[in-house]
Amino acid sequence: MATNERIRLGVLISGAGTNLQAIIDAIERGELKAEIAIVISNKANAPGLERASRHGLPTAVIDHRRFARREDFDAELVRVLKEHDVELVVCAGFMRILTHVLLSAFPNRVMNIHPSLLPAFTGIDAQRAAVEYGVRLAGCTVHFVTEKVDEGPIIIQAAVPVYPDDTEQTLRERILEQEHRIYPQAIALFQQGRLEIVGRKVRIKDFPISQKTVCLVNPPIDE
Ligand code: GRF
Repeated sequence: MATNERIRLGVLISGAGTNLQAIIDAIERGELKAEIAIVISNKANAPGLERASRHGLPTAVIDHRRFARREDFDAELVRVLKEHDVELVVCAGFMRILTHVLLSAFPNRVMNIHPSLLPAFTGIDAQRAAVEYGVRLAGCTVHFVTEKVDEGPIIIQAAVPVYPDDTEQTLRERILEQEHRIYPQAIALFQQGRLEIVGRKVRIKDFPISQKTVCLVNPPIDE
């Protein structure tokens, strides 16, 4: 993809849509050369739909309960995504498992964000699982989607500390703040043509390695 072209995104949501909002904001700030071609929700009452409308973005509701099989639901998603000439499918709090029907229609062109440092804490309630397990570092991951849930090649991750008095909710908020930073960045890397999937890894062209030693230790080492 030419780096100066706006990439057409199809954003799939089920709920609040704060990641959708972060993507909208990055586009509006000129940091992400993208256009949201369609926002699709499987839930008619998803607040994210209002965010989309407020920004004049086209929306569609496809209720998964109308379809007997996951594959049939996916076929309808594909139809609507293709109708809007979508180039990259962005799952942003989309709570459905995708099948080969959608994945083969958009090969290596479906991304997801998950609120853990994968491969830890796959599945739902990752933040609660992290608090209950007692990890000192948690975080979030943007990855390409494969048929195995939360297992696809990793594009970018952000780590945050977990504090002793954290609840599922406080950790969720700390992670979400980082989700909003890394998702637009992952899409920008894709738009710039800098992501290549090699086996189970993602190779990033001109990988920006920080000159400082970046290391998060929690609790901090006594100085
Ligand atoms: C986020 O934590 C995301 O990682 C997870 O679901 C949540 C959705 O948040 N998959 P939002 O709808 O983008 O606000």
